[in-house]
Amino acid sequence: KKQATWGGRFSEGPAELMLRIGESVSFDQRLAPFDVQGSKAQAAMLAHVGIITDEERDAIQAGLDAILAKVEAGEFFWDPELEDVHMNIEQALTQEVPAAAKLHTARSRNDQVATDMRLWFKYACDEVDASLAAVIASLVDLAERTQTVIIPGYTHLQRAQPVSMAHHLLAYVEMFARDRTRIAAVKEQANVCPLGSGAIAGTTLPIDREFVANELGFVDAQGRPQVTQNSMDAVSDRDSFIQFASACASIGVHLSRLAEDFILWSSAEFGFVKLPDAFTTGSSLMPQKKNPDAFELIRGKSARLTGNLQMLLTMVKGLPLTYNRDLQEDKPPVFDSFDQTVLILDCVAACLPGVQADAKRCAAAVADPALLATDVVDYLVKKAVPFREAHHVVGALVGLSEQLETPLNELPYEKVAKIHAALGADWIDAFDLGKALAARDKPGMPGPDQVAARIEHWRQK
Ligand code: ARG
Repeated sequence: KKQATWGGRFSEGPAELMLRIGESVSFDQRLAPFDVQGSKAQAAMLAHVGIITDEERDAIQAGLDAILAKVEAGEFFWDPELEDVHMNIEQALTQEVPAAAKLHTARSRNDQVATDMRLWFKYACDEVDASLAAVIASLVDLAERTQTVIIPGYTHLQRAQPVSMAHHLLAYVEMFARDRTRIAAVKEQANVCPLGSGAIAGTTLPIDREFVANELGFVDAQGRPQVTQNSMDAVSDRDSFIQFASACASIGVHLSRLAEDFILWSSAEFGFVKLPDAFTTGSSLMPQKKNPDAFELIRGKSARLTGNLQMLLTMVKGLPLTYNRDLQEDKPPVFDSFDQTVLILDCVAACLPGVQADAKRCAAAVADPALLATDVVDYLVKKAVPFREAHHVVGALVGLSEQLETPLNELPYEKVAKIHAALGADWIDAFDLGKALAARDKPGMPGPDQVAARIEHWRQK
């Protein structure tokens, strides 16, 4: 068995099962580019303060570049006996470059992994943000195409009031725009350099924390280096992990609701949209089936995002300060949240351009005059009938319509007029769908001008 990096005081190597439970390289090897970046900056700092020579720095940096090239070419051998990405890279480097024995000076894997993950979060947040932006763009495109497609809006999954499909879709744009701010907040929080915290209590060596923070781009908007302010916090803080998983869970919840709407809309019962063949599947038994699998999987995968957040919260909550090995388990949920979030966002962005609204089916669904019952209430209110009374009056009209099995807007006027004196012959105008929507012309409302302005707003952004 190989001697572990920390093997000095041990008389025998770890058990086979210890190696199996202890290894993280199977999942943390994806940190290699960030680990190399961090180590190159560490070497630069050590040379800057005179702990290593410039030649040693250059040799270490060149060696690290060569290792990364091997990793990227798929030619690097990841050895589970070396536990994690950090040990694997350091060992490989030491075999090539003698000066590598000085690289870990004033550093622990505790501040090293905290640094790697902060660099990773900054990268991951940019990726998620780009995918969010693409989903927003595809929703705005579909909204542009469906401004004149009027559908029932639903509360309690019961038909409520008419809205354009565009207005419905733009609701999701608002959600995803808020998700972008959540992701931006994670990136901001991750933008502080933990290097120099050591294992827990810093170091007695004359390091330059600001220098290494600068090298790694941990700088504020004014270009000032950002370093963590408490070494114990820096090696045990997992807030960014939780915040990232939380932002992904929020995206997942929003995508899941969107998926559910499209699953319903594409059913025979609704028939509001046709989904593109490329994002649906057939049945191995029933030849007629076209199943909305992509949206079902988006809905399903969003559960993983919630679970990952729960896992992190549960894992961290009882840990005494500072680093505990439990924390090695922080990476699978975070990587999974990242991978699944980007995947399901990208699926939605790719699928929406192929969605076709079925104008006929939407028109049939929205032809139900009861959807404009509230507009009849407004008609009465404009005639000075108190709202509560007007609500009651229209309730009676709806009751009458059900009793006579006659649509609300086809009730004989003599019967209508008897219900309330304020119901003039023009009450019927309340059922004009175009006018009903146009009247909803205040900010945030589904009036066509408002919707068009919101589309323009998002286009500008
Ligand atoms: N692979 C470890 C992790 O992700 C790195 C830190 C190890 N630190 C230690 N003291 N064993 O947590």
